[in-house]
Amino acid sequence: MTLLYTSDPERGRIWREIFAAEAPDVGFADPSEPHDPAAVRYLAAWSPSAELIASLPRLEILFSIGAGIDQFDMTRLPPHVRVVRMIEPGITAGMVEYAAMATLALHRNLIDYRVAQGEARWSPIKLVPAGERRVGVMGLGNLGQAVLKALAPFGFPLSGWSRSAHQIDGVTCHAGAAGMAAFLAECDILICLLPLTDATRGILCRDSLSRLPKGAALINVGRGGHLVEQDLLSLLDEGHLSGAVLDVTDPEPLPGDHPFWAHPRIIITPHVASMTRADSAARVLIANIRRHEAGEPLDGEVARNRGY
Ligand code: GLV
Repeated sequence: MTLLYTSDPERGRIWREIFAAEAPDVGFADPSEPHDPAAVRYLAAWSPSAELIASLPRLEILFSIGAGIDQFDMTRLPPHVRVVRMIEPGITAGMVEYAAMATLALHRNLIDYRVAQGEARWSPIKLVPAGERRVGVMGLGNLGQAVLKALAPFGFPLSGWSRSAHQIDGVTCHAGAAGMAAFLAECDILICLLPLTDATRGILCRDSLSRLPKGAALINVGRGGHLVEQDLLSLLDEGHLSGAVLDVTDPEPLPGDHPFWAHPRIIITPHVASMTRADSAARVLIANIRRHEAGEPLDGEVARNRGY
């Protein structure tokens, strides 16, 4: 039985060592080395080609190298192949750090001070207590919940929104289309951590963003496809929104002439909020392979029809 690995070679080197030491019964191969395609039961990949998938007659599980699975073309994947997203401590820690950094930057007016600095203008802004800055997270999966937990000690009033109902201590939870308007009305800072699906594409648009309180700000750490770019630009220019921190864009890389780059109220980072950590991810993968062998539920398995 073989795991075929088709991602970053540096991570592959670490995974190979960990598999050799901790799961010697699972062969580890990358496509450039000799391997028997009929022995490949597991594929770990970011964006595998249709040809690669078609060449693996016994494939049982496609493991995403990252937290998302929207990059997979499900139409090219045989229906029996299970799909698993990466849930591992390194990704969670990175996302928590980034979301905290961006929330605090917006809360403490970093965008205004960056603009003022460009004009050599010394112009203090009165502090708003954290208890008066409402932060809301869209997407209450493992990452969304970890971010809310990390933000709680600052004292921000917290709320959350997701498709299905949740109960989280210290967080006002809203669900579904019916709960969206009430949720948005109470977010001074909105963090998008949704999966990208047909139902969430373009969810950050004029209709939703204009329901945020005047002066609210957006952090997008989901996918570029969640955001209708022109709507964000208009709402910033009209002064309804005060800023945005965007780690994801569509396309990526963001083209050099895109208006986001030079916008004084937008901070762009190049999809770095979190990254899969090699060692912890390898161990999560091995644990999932063991669960599969034991007929137990997999951690992070995606409902393919739902897309997350
Ligand atoms: C990155 O965005 C990932 O899905 O891990």
